[in-house]
Amino acid sequence: MCGARTAQRFYHLVVTSPPYYNAPFDYPDLFKDYDEFLQLIRRVAIELHRVITYVRIACFVTDDMLMNGEKYPVVAYITKIMIQSGFRYRDKITWVKPKGYTRISRRSGLVIQHPYPMYFYPDNMQESILIFQKGKFDYGYLKSVNVLPKEGRLEEGIAAFPEELAARLIKLFSFAGETVLDPFLGSGTTSKVAMQHGRNSVGYEIDSYSSY
Ligand SMILES: C[S@@+](CC[C@H](N)C(=O)[O-])C[C@H]1O[C@@H](n2cnc3c(N)ncnc32)[C@H](O)[C@@H]1O
Repeated sequence: MCGARTAQRFYHLVVTSPPYYNAPFDYPDLFKDYDEFLQLIRRVAIELHRVITYVRIACFVTDDMLMNGEKYPVVAYITKIMIQSGFRYRDKITWVKPKGYTRISRRSGLVIQHPYPMYFYPDNMQESILIFQKGKFDYGYLKSVNVLPKEGRLEEGIAAFPEELAARLIKLFSFAGETVLDPFLGSGTTSKVAMQHGRNSVGYEIDSYSSY
């Protein structure tokens, strides 16, 4: 994946957050243009569909991106590309970022309190967690492999922080001993949390300094 050797194994869950296109703080000039970004997403989506186990889930944490006065509809494009790559669109969960999480939110507040016409540049105060599935959701299949959770089992806590967010997705969509894949590993949150919850993990990352 992403130029690495073709993966031979299969994965039970994908939890990932692709680079936010050319986001000014984190990824300035990572891509030549929006098309190049979309091509990467397309390549990854096709490969994910190939390596993920039937009826299993791929989660993308992402959001639209405002740059140089242009709003890029990343959420809609990733949804479309994943569907075109063979995934079924299952859900969109909104992650409302906790207070203090965004770096430039104070600037937005200032603009709101002392507005100057046309200068409104809001931070992304929330993100979308896009949930896709390979194949059709099928309770019969899950029953046949005897993996339905016991009735009354509840997950505790609220997904307020990135690790908790990954933990929630991993616990919702995989079983202990299975393997979670993150094609955009970053600092390694997915792998760290997968390990904490008894899952194996595999990640890909172009920045050799960003992972654990
Ligand atoms: C939004 S970050 C992921 C953050 C991660 N979820 C975490 O908790 O640290 C996206 C990551 O994708 C990496 N990336 C960008 N292009 C890539 C590619 N072609 N293959 C693999 N990783 C890539 C970036 O270097 C960045 O670390």
